[in-house]
Amino acid sequence: MRKILIIGIGAGNPDHVTVQAIKALNQVDVFFIPDKGTDKVALQRLRKDICERFIEGSDYRMVPMPIPTRAAAGQDYRGSVDQWHAQLADAYESLIMAELGEGECGGFLVWGDPTLYDSTLRIIDHIQAKGCALEYDIIPGISSVQALAARHRVALNRIGQPVLITTGRKLTEGFPDNLDSVVVMLDGDQAFTRIEADDLDIYWGAYLGTEDEILVAGKLSEVAADIERIRRQAREEKGWIMDTYLLRKGGKT
Ligand SMILES: C[S@@+](CC[C@H](N)C(=O)[O-])C[C@H]1O[C@@H](n2cnc3c(N)ncnc32)[C@H](O)[C@@H]1O
Repeated sequence: MRKILIIGIGAGNPDHVTVQAIKALNQVDVFFIPDKGTDKVALQRLRKDICERFIEGSDYRMVPMPIPTRAAAGQDYRGSVDQWHAQLADAYESLIMAELGEGECGGFLVWGDPTLYDSTLRIIDHIQAKGCALEYDIIPGISSVQALAARHRVALNRIGQPVLITTGRKLTEGFPDNLDSVVVMLDGDQAFTRIEADDLDIYWGAYLGTEDEILVAGKLSEVAADIERIRRQAREEKGWIMDTYLLRKGGKT
């Protein structure tokens, strides 16, 4: 039986890699490296550095996996994502069957944690559901959300209260009435600049865990414009950005 390990590699700092992930890395014969064509060189380098640092010997292969671009979502966001996943599942299945021998182990190095805003798990699930004979395991990783909270020394939830993890796209519908802690990811349009609330604090982080990490915290109404400017400048300089933030009502604790 072919085996796939979906390995969380942390959010940018090679020190995030767990002992469990190191053991998993050392079992892999073939790493499948998704290539969107626009992948940031720095992220590719981090994957390579992790393999070189943590794998004993060099008895593994790297196979690039071209990723088709997702069609524009239009009105049916969920439909377009499902269709894209089905397309990806076909492409992944063909490559896995061609590159991975019976009894061999394939690996996917997933940014942060594989169970948080990442498609790899759904795609492998999809392939298995189509009847492809493979088994898989997931190795959790330190997500950007955990890295953000740790660097700002802030708990994600207030005492006894829930926390919502959502996207910039969802935040444009407004800050939820019944919550006081909201973590926002995948926000290319700076949805936080359109939230009007006097009682919100923001804990923002970009390039978390890397040498270029930037942290800003403060009252949203006072620092939103600064974050927007810092974000724009950093993005222009590096050519890409990854940022995430916690919005908190009612103070730090
Ligand atoms: C496709 S999601 C992947 C999330 C990842 N699985 C995780 O556990 O963090 C990409 C989003 O994660 C966040 N992100 C990932 N790495 C980050 C980092 N090093 N610094 C800041 N945000 C990061 C950003 O919001 C980015 O848009």
